[in-house]
Amino acid sequence: MPRIVKHRITNALPEHIKNRKTKHSFFRLRGLTALKRALHHLFRGKSSQTPSVRTHERKATPLPGLPPPTSQFQFIKTMGTGNFGKVCEIREFGTDRRLAAKFASADASRQAALHAEIQNELDIMGILSKSGHPNLTTLQGTLSENNVTYLLMDLGGPSLSSHLAAGKQFTPAQVASLMKQLISGIGYMRSHSIQHNDIRADNLLYDGNVLKICDFGRATKMGILLPTVVLNYMPPEVLSECRSNNLDMWSSACLMVELLLGEQLITRQQLNVNDNNHTPLSRGDRNQMIRRQIAKAAQRIEACAGKDAALLFRGMTKPMKSRITPEEALKSPFLAQRPATAV
Ligand SMILES: Nc1ncnc2c1ncn2[C@@H]1O[C@H](COP(=O)(O)OP(=O)(O)OP(=O)(O)O)[C@@H](O)[C@H]1O
Ligand SMILES: [Mg+2]
Repeated sequence: MPRIVKHRITNALPEHIKNRKTKHSFFRLRGLTALKRALHHLFRGKSSQTPSVRTHERKATPLPGLPPPTSQFQFIKTMGTGNFGKVCEIREFGTDRRLAAKFASADASRQAALHAEIQNELDIMGILSKSGHPNLTTLQGTLSENNVTYLLMDLGGPSLSSHLAAGKQFTPAQVASLMKQLISGIGYMRSHSIQHNDIRADNLLYDGNVLKICDFGRATKMGILLPTVVLNYMPPEVLSECRSNNLDMWSSACLMVELLLGEQLITRQQLNVNDNNHTPLSRGDRNQMIRRQIAKAAQRIEACAGKDAALLFRGMTKPMKSRITPEEALKSPFLAQRPATAV
């Protein structure tokens, strides 16, 4: 039986509907449409004029290689898998709306850790989805069924890493547009005192026009860090003190290098990252190596995308206290004149 998971965006529905846990319980949607749909589902079948969509839809058969349908939606295709879970495109019964569903794909031994991660993601997305931002994936609701919790969110395009893996090369103007969207999303998170902590090409969706940040599994309130971070996208202060209040801008600089130069600013090999996700390099050696990489990348960025691009990159890779903020970056010459969407 589906179980409604409560979180902040459920406020759109009246209490008596929110608390009604019937087999027709409907996952949470926002606004008037949500209310209409919830009422439709609650009273479906009581009126002969209401089409019994779900009775028919329950017969939907699983598509090859995908899980069987839930009571609310059918799986259409796998969009991606990560350490935590699997994300599929889904079709919502009754409306045919396409959404993305994220759910834990790991074995039972890791379920507890995964549950904590999904709860964290749910809390963060609940905060960020209240008013929403065009460059963040928005939480649309949740569904718990047969001990699996599905996080339902808007469907984005393929990840930037899959664009890069397919050999896509971005022009400096396209990179500027992507960076503008990314930094605008980061600025919005910051205005809610949230940092993402995992900005990298895998976690950025791009449909050829709009960039959306996804995967809030490691996001936290500013200054706090979860232990599992991807070290070669982390600024020096995280590598030495495990704390930062401006690390998303550093990770964005790492992404800028990948998009413009087609390689990583700092590799795991250069950091000697071991199986325990530690880097054994001394702080001095590490900082020296990082400074060298930054100088080399800045030169190459200037050669291929101009002085303004290099200036922004340098601002994003400064020590934490003087690192450029999203607001300042959006005013920088490389970004200020760019359209917010693709060129
Ligand atoms: N809303 C979405 N729309 C389309 N594709 C998505 C969406 N959210 C995630 N994806 C795809 O699914 C992949 C895995 O999702 P996500 O990064 O959230 O999982 P994860 O297990 O938390 O990842 P990680 O390994 O970083 O911990 C992403 O890299 C992306 O390709
Ligand atoms: Mg991810």
